[in-house]
Amino acid sequence: DYTAQPFVPDHGGLAALREAAAGCRGCPLHRNATQTVFGAGKATARVMLVGEQPGDQEDRQGRPFVGPAGKLLDRALAEAGMDPADTYVTNAVKHFKFTQAEPRKRRIHKAPTLREMTACGPWLAAELALVEPELIVVLGATAGKALLGSSFRVTEVRGTVLEREIHGRPERLVPTVHPSAVLRAEDREGAYRGLVSDLKTAAQAL
Ligand code: URA
Ligand code: SF4
Repeated sequence: DYTAQPFVPDHGGLAALREAAAGCRGCPLHRNATQTVFGAGKATARVMLVGEQPGDQEDRQGRPFVGPAGKLLDRALAEAGMDPADTYVTNAVKHFKFTQAEPRKRRIHKAPTLREMTACGPWLAAELALVEPELIVVLGATAGKALLGSSFRVTEVRGTVLEREIHGRPERLVPTVHPSAVLRAEDREGAYRGLVSDLKTAAQAL
């Protein structure tokens, strides 16, 4: 089955991981995307934020959360009192998955399958092993399923501190909604307040 495992180096730091991930062919998503979008931040970061997959802007720029969802997330983190220098930001899946009606038409985000999430898991496991965050902030259902299994329901556990074993290590996690869901919400202000409130819970758990 699809897996990134043979592409993951067994030694070296984040720079070595990022370089190797640029050549990952562990699942078919690399074929249509522009580039691998690896995590960003320092190995010393105290908090790891995990999103779903890069979007259109991230795919073009090669960095996670630089588009509209990222702008909203930055604002919410600042409001929650979380220092950006303390955060490492990444995604459950490292290539942009999209549909496009015609060439040059807008690329529309498509949710990754469980197979693709599982294939990309070794990168996230390697990031966790190197960064060893004190806390993982789980952004939305895809990240939740990738880290905690397919029964994950964001509405049931958001804003709470969970303790689980992830890739063989004991981790503390605070799930919340995905910033893109805030942008799509009917009550956008209410959804944003909810995100900030969950991030405050995360900041206080440090
Ligand atoms: N949404 C995500 O889940 N990740 C990104 O990097 C950008 C948008
Ligand atoms: Fe590799 Fe993940 Fe990209 Fe698939 S999505 S090719 S597993 S980096």
